[in-house]
Parts: sequence; structure tokens; C-alpha cells
Amino acid sequence: MNRRTFIKTCGSVATLSFLSPSFFSQSLKAQTNQFKKYKKAILLDKHGNPLNPSSLEVGKQYIFFYPYRSTPALLLNLGKEVKPSEVRLSDGSTYLWPGGVGPQKSIIAFCAICPHQLSYPTPEYSFINYYPHDKPSKAAKKGNVIQCCAHMSIFDPERGGVVIDGPSEYPLLAIVLTYEEGKLYAVGTLGVERFRDFFDAYRSDLKKMYKSFRKAKKKVDKAVVLEVEEYVKEIIYC
Ligand code: FES
Repeated sequence: MNRRTFIKTCGSVATLSFLSPSFFSQSLKAQTNQFKKYKKAILLDKHGNPLNPSSLEVGKQYIFFYPYRSTPALLLNLGKEVKPSEVRLSDGSTYLWPGGVGPQKSIIAFCAICPHQLSYPTPEYSFINYYPHDKPSKAAKKGNVIQCCAHMSIFDPERGGVVIDGPSEYPLLAIVLTYEEGKLYAVGTLGVERFRDFFDAYRSDLKKMYKSFRKAKKKVDKAVVLEVEEYVKEIIYC
């Protein structure tokens, strides 16, 4: 059964955006019951260097694995400041999504496991993808959305991954990022996690891919960022 939690948001959006990264993480924890802290992982480029935020092209989708070695996340640079916003769940509870980080506060990340029925990018194919402005989703009739073609759930990355349309009951799980001295880090998740369901559903696939299930569930302290096209053979748009 899907996990439901109840969240109380307090504190102001405006205040949050001025806090230092470490205080910011603590504040998130204090202000929502939905922030889950994981190992802090530095984001790296494919050469093993700290990822330069300016290397992230606007409109491109990037992938990294966090908080576990086998759990994919999409990284996006929306090219403009992404403001914090309140995310409302179907039970009426809310939490505060902190918006973008980086020099322009334009960089955001979401778990790429669809919260509907757990479709996720594999090296063979990906049903869940970001559609930039210049490549709009036909179903949504607009760009700047994340859409899962498995059953057509559509999410708004600029508003914390809320569901725009489709069968998903939950928004995308946000990956909480910080930007410290020119480097990007992932520090935790915010929202409704379905990692337990994911590990249960794909246990044998993950075991095969990572040589053991234990290795697939290893938490990471660094994460290499690739263009999705560098990881996935066939990207399915719809
Ligand atoms: S698994 Fe993504 S919409 Fe159903």
C-alpha cells in the first residue's frame, strides 16, 4: 500500500530563500515532516570533477543516481530563478518545496521513478522525461513539463513536481539540492517516497544490474551527472 504522510508547513517562503545551505537543510527538516535527510552527495561531471552549474544546458534533461545507487533522478536547469512553492497532496496536506539552487537559482532535481506505477529510466528506455519549451508534450499541449508516457501522468517541474494531469496520486519526489562554494550537492528528498515499492517491484532486475540487491541499495556520497541520452538508448516521448 502506498505510504501517506501528513505534513505541516510553517515559516515563510521568502525567509527560506535567504538561508545558508546547512541551515537551510535543518530548517527544511524542522518545517516539514516530509524532508528526509540522506548522505550528502556531491554532483560530479563525467570526468569526476565537481559539476559546473553553467555546464547544464537549459532545456536538457540530465540524470544522476541518488540517494541510492540504483534510484535515478532528473536534473534540470530551467534557465531562470525557480521560486519556492507549496505542494499540496491529495489528502489536503502541504509541504514547502524550496525551488531552484545555483548561481541563478534555476537548478532543480526530482526522482525519476514515476510516483504512479514506478516506471523509471533504464539503460534501454525511458518513459518519463522532461519536455522543454521548444519540444512540448502533445498530451499537455505545452513544454516545461515532466511526463510519464506509461500512463500519461504529467508533472510541473516549476511548481515542485505537482501533478498537472493523469493518474498519479502523488507529485514527483523532489531531490533537495544545495549550492555551496560553487558546488552542487544532493542532501535529501522532499515529498512522498516510493523507494520501498520500487525496490520490491524491481528486486530481480536490480539484482542483475548491480550484481547484488545490497549493492543496488547502497547510499551514495557522490553522483555523476550525465545527459539522459548518454544513459538511455531509447527515449520515449508521447
Ligand atoms: S507509471 Fe508513470 S504514469 Fe503510470
